[in-house]
Amino acid sequence: MKVLFVSSEVYPYSKSGGLGDVAGALPQALVKAGHEVLVVSPWYQTLKGAPLWIGDVAAPFDGGFSQVGVGTLERQGVRYAFVGHSQFQRDQLYGYPDDVKRFCLFSRAVPQVAERVGFVPDVVHANDWHSAYLPLILKDGWHLPAGFPGRPCVFSIHNLQYQGVSELEATLYWLRLPSSLKNSYLNHFGSANAMQGAIGFAEQVTTVSPGYAEEIQRPEYGYGLDGTLRHLSFKLRGILNGLDTEVWNPASDPNLPAPYSADDLSGKQQAREALCERFRLGGGRPILGVVSRLVEQKGIDLVLKALPQLLGQGWSLVVLGSGEAWLEEGLRQAAAWHPGQVAAVIGHDEQLAHLIYAGADALAVPSRFEPCGLSQMIAMRYGTLPIARATGGLKDTIIHDQDGFLFTHANPEGLLWAAGQARRRYAEARWEAMMVRAMSKEFSWARSAQAYGEVYRLAWGG
Ligand code: ADP
Ligand code: GLC
Repeated sequence: MKVLFVSSEVYPYSKSGGLGDVAGALPQALVKAGHEVLVVSPWYQTLKGAPLWIGDVAAPFDGGFSQVGVGTLERQGVRYAFVGHSQFQRDQLYGYPDDVKRFCLFSRAVPQVAERVGFVPDVVHANDWHSAYLPLILKDGWHLPAGFPGRPCVFSIHNLQYQGVSELEATLYWLRLPSSLKNSYLNHFGSANAMQGAIGFAEQVTTVSPGYAEEIQRPEYGYGLDGTLRHLSFKLRGILNGLDTEVWNPASDPNLPAPYSADDLSGKQQAREALCERFRLGGGRPILGVVSRLVEQKGIDLVLKALPQLLGQGWSLVVLGSGEAWLEEGLRQAAAWHPGQVAAVIGHDEQLAHLIYAGADALAVPSRFEPCGLSQMIAMRYGTLPIARATGGLKDTIIHDQDGFLFTHANPEGLLWAAGQARRRYAEARWEAMMVRAMSKEFSWARSAQAYGEVYRLAWGG
């Protein structure tokens, strides 16, 4: 099938979290499964890679038309088109007060950009709120290129917390959509809600783990959309993310001092030593790593609250992350108070992330909710056992006391309980058997690509 895959970030060109990883790997797996895929994403100022500019197109936007540039690239059989506009010439991908307007422009440009590169899709696959306007645009939008009106849509929820909420009338004006949509799924308590609009208008809705698909139909995890999701549950399913096993492979990872595998773990020891040396950590203690966006979702405050007891259990802590100021500051202070035991690097650093996944003994993932989570899968592939909260995709990918450790309650006591279990196992021979089991786990994208293929066929009506 011809799949138009739309995402606000795509590895290796742009990435703030797991959505970038997924948009980097899933299209490749879809191509291997026989689909033809065009990925469309913004042409950020910070884009890694140099698309070839092939011209401009006029996107219907904000009561008129906006010129956007089109840049193209091809990588391993996948075609990429990047949407260029001054609105994407900023230091960060997101986090600005006008994000909704910026991504309305992006979404509105997608059909014109696809037409410009000669791609008329069988199905459009939109991801998260940034491209969630597409199902509405394709159903009701004016000025669509031939072949686009009414194209079926699949919408994937990677994180229900971010919904793209804005003023209803203004949003319809930006999107050049009819005012009749004021009384549609776009309207959530009088505001435009991009996420709910897509859930309502898409033919099929997926989320990134079976566990999260079930959780978001409950008020505790539904962020106000659980009622809508329950009502439309007939078209909702969870498909577990895979891992790009070429990018995340300890046997060929250029960021590590030496390659290693389950058969020969000596390279992992070298990664551990490199990590200790870089952060001047005492070598005798097991290392607990964290690689994470620093936001409430991820429960990093639980690590901070439990820190004295974690150190008391014998752990050292190495954190790499960026996000909310209070968490960044808390981590900086913790590192300053506990030199030789706690290290914190604030920022986004792909290379260091690889070294932590390899060099740490365990990875803390104490998330309050986790749609899928890739970091625990990466850690397992590197023989680093996750200590994670039993929620969403974490619960679906980790087996307690077999290839990681799970706790139920999102509080410091819960985390400490699981960290204590891990600490005991670390002193036993069983730890190495668990490492080998974790490293042998199957996380490839092939199975998920198959499941998406079925969802595309359902959306298409086949
Ligand atoms: P989320 O998408 O919610 O952030 P995931 O676990 O699905 O969580 O994916 C996170 C991805 O982002 C992983 O590839 C992880 O290694 C990466 N990542 C998170 N924070 C950083 C950082 N500060 N530096 C480098 N990589 C990071
Ligand atoms: C989101 C979720 C994360 C998931 C990722 C990719 O960022 O927070 O759990 O793994 O998307 O689907």
